[in-house]
Amino acid sequence: MILVTGGAGFIGGNFVLDWLAGSNEPVINLDKLTYAGNLDTLASLKDVPRHLFVRGDICDRELVARLLAEHKPRAVINFAAESHVDRSIHGPGEFIQTNVVGTFNLLEAVRGYWNELSGEAKQTFRFLHVSTDEVYGTLSPDDAPFAETHPYEPNSPYSASKAASDHLVRAWHHTYGLPVLTTNCSNNYGPYHFPEKLIPLMILNALAGKLLPIYGDGQQVRDWLYVKDHCAAIRRVLEAGTPGETYNVGGWNEKPNLEVIHTICTILDELKPRADGKRYASQITFVQDRSGHDRRYAIDARKLERELGWKPAETFDSGIRKTVAWYLDNQDWVRNVTSGAYRDWVATQYGA
Ligand code: NAD
Ligand code: TYD
Repeated sequence: MILVTGGAGFIGGNFVLDWLAGSNEPVINLDKLTYAGNLDTLASLKDVPRHLFVRGDICDRELVARLLAEHKPRAVINFAAESHVDRSIHGPGEFIQTNVVGTFNLLEAVRGYWNELSGEAKQTFRFLHVSTDEVYGTLSPDDAPFAETHPYEPNSPYSASKAASDHLVRAWHHTYGLPVLTTNCSNNYGPYHFPEKLIPLMILNALAGKLLPIYGDGQQVRDWLYVKDHCAAIRRVLEAGTPGETYNVGGWNEKPNLEVIHTICTILDELKPRADGKRYASQITFVQDRSGHDRRYAIDARKLERELGWKPAETFDSGIRKTVAWYLDNQDWVRNVTSGAYRDWVATQYGA
């Protein structure tokens, strides 16, 4: 079996769903259920015994050690993190706690477990750390996309905390020999994305008749990857990646934010036209820019393509259309998230 952390979040949730749909191998899913963790995402697994959900914190080394000793996973995949740049600007403390201290505690628990393994189990064990392209900093318009050799130049509390965690993972390999893999992926989008991030926020605000807030001039560039392509890349790296290596994951889909929002508006105009006949783009409004806003991210994913044969299945056009359709078709999930009802469920189920 495998142990996944943060598997009730956006990418971890998609990963767990895809894993269990494509493999008989059980998953232990360790998640703290912060505001970003949502058990509704995993509702279809309610009666699936191969999915064992455990509410807990990666900072809790004893809990992690106990889970490892009890279930003996062949791999640990670390998605657990605080992940929203804007929240990191308002309150960086949680980012240091989970992303840095949490990764440290997880690494220590995993190292203790791995040291006790022997033979093939020790040889084949992997710790895969899921990270971001934001650790590389920002690019000018004419710069080449980030390769794995690009220096780390994180600019936000979020990206600095992720960079720190990547360094810990690297050091645990170099010093202790722990068989680690790190993936640095570009911006994801797709089903079950919490509506504080650009794409789901714009879809849901548009449908609710609210303004569509664009930071600054809207010309910041992000390199978008459909979440299921990211999950496929992680499965491939887990299967065939070389311990100690890092792999950049991206879809060669650089887009300025304003273009992304116009694309969403056009798809909504077609799939669910406004009752008053106006276009959704009329809801666009420019607001104050984010502090320290990175101008451009772009990923050079050629190493992953060349060495492990991974390629994204979706273009931006196909992926964004699927995503908008998913939000239109999954109003129950959306209602629960936007009303906060899923937080009430967490309180009922798990108490304080
Ligand atoms: P998310 O915020 O949607 O989910 C994070 C999950 O981790 C939540 O379920 C939360 O409850 C859980 N969690 C938080 N703190 C925890 C703790 N201390 N112990 C256990 N669980 C905890 O994030 P996401 O967008 O799914 O991102 C997952 C990972 O992928 C993160 O490490 C992030 O840095 C990385 N990443 C994200 C993107 C993106 O575009 N979203 C791109 C590249 C990399
Ligand atoms: P976000 O989804 O927060 O991802 P990240 O900051 O990790 O790239 O934001 C994506 C881009 O969209 C980023 O340039 C900030 C911008 N943005 C807006 O213009 N308006 C918004 O309301 C949000 C949430 C983001």
